[in-house]
This record gives sequence, structure tokens and C-alpha cells, in this order.
Amino acid sequence: MDWGMENRLAQLIQSDGHCLFLPIDHGYFQGPTRKLEKPGETIAPLLPYCDAVFVTRGVLRSSINPANTKPIILRVSGGTSVVGNDLSDEGITTSMEEAIRLNVAAVGISIFVGSAYEKQSLLNLARLVDEGEKYGIPVMAVTAVGKELEKRDARYLALSSRIAAELGARLVKTYWCQDFDKVTNGCPVPVVMAGGPRVDTEREVFAFVHDGMQKGAIGVNLGRNIWQHENPVAMIRALRAIIHDGAGVDEAQEVFTEVRSGE
Ligand code: 5RP
Repeated sequence: MDWGMENRLAQLIQSDGHCLFLPIDHGYFQGPTRKLEKPGETIAPLLPYCDAVFVTRGVLRSSINPANTKPIILRVSGGTSVVGNDLSDEGITTSMEEAIRLNVAAVGISIFVGSAYEKQSLLNLARLVDEGEKYGIPVMAVTAVGKELEKRDARYLALSSRIAAELGARLVKTYWCQDFDKVTNGCPVPVVMAGGPRVDTEREVFAFVHDGMQKGAIGVNLGRNIWQHENPVAMIRALRAIIHDGAGVDEAQEVFTEVRSGE
């Protein structure tokens, strides 16, 4: 692997082999998502505890201080909205030249396996990988499901993740599911887990993240269940304990309770 590619991946995946990415890219199709109306304010207290931020160029330039940040994974797909016809009809929104100008550690793109625009989104990924490999910039593929959240089972996510890896993604971001080892075992590149919409209790988040880590994930790219929570710093610190300190669910709950009581 070339030095630049290796260096960028090492910025993202820490020396223990694990990572905690903080995504704040939701506005690219959802608009001002709850608690992300002012992204810079939302993430300021969380930045010290994440390993990278997943963000579009617009929010990066407007809301993140270049002198005080973490490695950036640039969201470079889009062109659709929640009120449009089909979320899978994405294109590449940002050039590799722009990614280099922004000094990013990686770029991220969604693929929509099984959708009306499956082929288009997969060819977008392949083209982005061609460009990224030229300049040593890793591509993270996001196995998106659009509004069809019920698609998130092991068979579908394993299929999507494997296709992403076959097309050259250096990292795959997918959802946690039951039998998550079927996803990681079939994917020859590192897998990180997204959180999805808010769940009822913090313990549920700790439980699925812990399970996914036991079953081969290297970390998370997890947003709403951190920054939409009433105690976001307690959430991210508890998740960090699972990902980087080997904490179990009970220990993560203890970290959460302790940090919350000091907030
Ligand atoms: C949204 C994304 C997000 O990065 C991803 O879904 C992770 O965020 P969350 O944990 O809130 O689901 O790709 O476009």
C-alpha cells in the first residue's frame, strides 16, 4: 500500500485497530436534522472523543475550525432529498480535487443495492475508487437503505458490504443486525457500524455496538444515537469505552452514568 493511503487509513483506524467516527452528514438529504441545526455547536463538546468526522464540504467549511479538528471523511455523494422521488438516485457531488484541497483522510459515498438506481450508485463507487486510489485517498462505502429501514438484515447487508468491497472500497459502513458475523465474515475490508434512528435506551446502543465489535466490526460511524441524546458526551464516552477500552455493556453503562452525573 502506498504511503499516503496507509497514512490516511492510520489517521482513521487507531493503533488498536478500532475507530469511532462521528457522522454529521445527515443534512445532505434530510435538511436541518434535529440537534444538527447548528452542527458546529453540536459537535464541539464531542470532538475530543471521536477519531474522525463524516461531513459534507459545506458544513466542513462553514462549521468546523480547520485549526482544531479531527481527521475528516468527506461525504461526496448526494443530489437527492427526503421530499424527492427516490433517495437512491445519487451522483458524486464533490471532486477528488476538492477532497485534496480540503486535506481529507477519506471520502464517503452511498450505494443502494437492490434499488432502482443500484447500477448507477455502484458505478459511482467504482469511479470514486479509481480517483481515490490515484491520489491515495481511501473510499468508505455506505450501504444505504433509503427509507426502507426494514431491509437491514444480515443477508442484505452482507450482500451490499461484499459488493462494496469488491468494487474497491477500503472501508464499509453498514448497519448492525442480528448475526452480524455473517456481514463481517463475508467482507474482506474493515466494517464499521452506523447507528440508525434514535433507539429508546442508551443500553440498547451499548448492546448492539458491543455485539458488533465481538462479531468483527472495527468500530462505529454513529451519529443520532450520540448527538440526539440528552447526554451526548456521556454517550460518546461510553461508546469509546466499548470500542477502545474493551468495556462490556455494564461497564459502558457505568461510564455513561458517571459522566452524566458530572455534566
Ligand atoms: C446518513 C449517513 C450517516 O453517516 C449514517 O447513517 C450514520 O449516522 P446514524 O448513526 O445517525 O445513522 O450516512 O446519511
